[in-house]
Amino acid sequence: MSKIVTIIGARPQFIKAAAVSREIRNRDDIREIIVHTGQHFDANMSEVFFEQMDIPKPNYNLGVNSLSHGAMTGQMLEKIEEVLLKEQPDRVVVYGDTNSTIAGALAAKKLHIKVAHVEAGLRSFNMKMPEEVNRILTDRISDILFCPTQKAVDNLYAEGFENFNSKIVLSGDVMQDAANFYRDKSVKPIDNLPENYLLATIHRAENTDYPEKIKAIFAAFEEIGEELPVVLPLHPRTRKVMEKLSISVDSRKVVLIEPVGYLEMVWLLTHASMVMTDSGGLQKEAYFFDNFCITLRDETEWVELIEHSFNVICKAEKQAIIKAYQKSKNIKPDFSVELYGGGKASANIVDNLTNQ
Ligand code: UD1
Ligand code: UDP
Repeated sequence: MSKIVTIIGARPQFIKAAAVSREIRNRDDIREIIVHTGQHFDANMSEVFFEQMDIPKPNYNLGVNSLSHGAMTGQMLEKIEEVLLKEQPDRVVVYGDTNSTIAGALAAKKLHIKVAHVEAGLRSFNMKMPEEVNRILTDRISDILFCPTQKAVDNLYAEGFENFNSKIVLSGDVMQDAANFYRDKSVKPIDNLPENYLLATIHRAENTDYPEKIKAIFAAFEEIGEELPVVLPLHPRTRKVMEKLSISVDSRKVVLIEPVGYLEMVWLLTHASMVMTDSGGLQKEAYFFDNFCITLRDETEWVELIEHSFNVICKAEKQAIIKAYQKSKNIKPDFSVELYGGGKASANIVDNLTNQ
């Protein structure tokens, strides 16, 4: 029996870990201990995903959140180390690119516990992003690198990973598994939504930390909203910034709603006319649910979406966003091409976790 510790803490990690955790529960040769770092803590940013996606209640909740990068990562590191010393797992599994990811990987590696990184090899080549720093460092100290795409594999080889003692596996993307599993189980989030709408999410530091960018994004949403209302589940980080900068919107044009659960998000994705986002996950989900996506960033790690014209990058400038919307609103690509492994990533990952 192999014992693994899964480290998760932020919203996208719950969604990514759900499919792998379900797969683990189908096996009798592997046992999972779940550690929630506490990075996300509001009920609609955390608990809802455990309930909706049948993720077992975490064995530990470390309660670390709302701190600067150093303090957050440092406190997580210390508390994860304590758990690992007690549990003595065979392997630690980390997901994505948040502070919880690097803290989990580093705590394990220093204790000589093998690290598996799910969603390895992604690169934006923008070292100002906290996520880029987290993913590069996590990849370098991981023993198994589960890459969602061939491009992610190529990125690792370009960094010389063939010279390191790590195993690279092209696993496919666990978010495709989640989308396939929950596609027919969606739930309408609230009544009185506009019939046609553009679905938006904004929360990345590269937008919310720059007043001129976040103001430009909301100004563009208001103008677009005159033609196609924008529905926007609001991340707490963005809510705080809007309050600080006194940004307000006309609710007939920009419908701000609370963060929603995954089943509600699947509903919103299924019924939207288009997606605009700076989220990593939502860019792919737009494609999973046949929506064109405008990515409000300077670059993306999910380059295959751009190559297949399912997604365009747009700077956070008002006129650029409006222009991108006008250019894209009638585009109806053929989404039938398979880019993310077809929904077999979790089985692939768990096979490789037990075969080592
Ligand atoms: C984090 C990740 C980011 C990921 C995002 C997913 C890092 C460096 N960033 O960003 O890569 O895209 O999660 O959503 O790890 N807050 C609440 N309630 C919550 C969660 C957060 O109020 O449930 C507040 C925090 O108090 C803080 C702010 O939101 O003030 C930002 O939270 P934090 O976890 O630091 O980063 P995210 O922006 O969520
Ligand atoms: N998501 C959700 N409810 C929301 C906003 C996002 O369930 O209100 C889901 C979304 O569908 C995707 C994941 O959260 O699966 C993406 O997380 P987020 O955008 O917070 O982080 P990122 O992917 O940018 O790291």
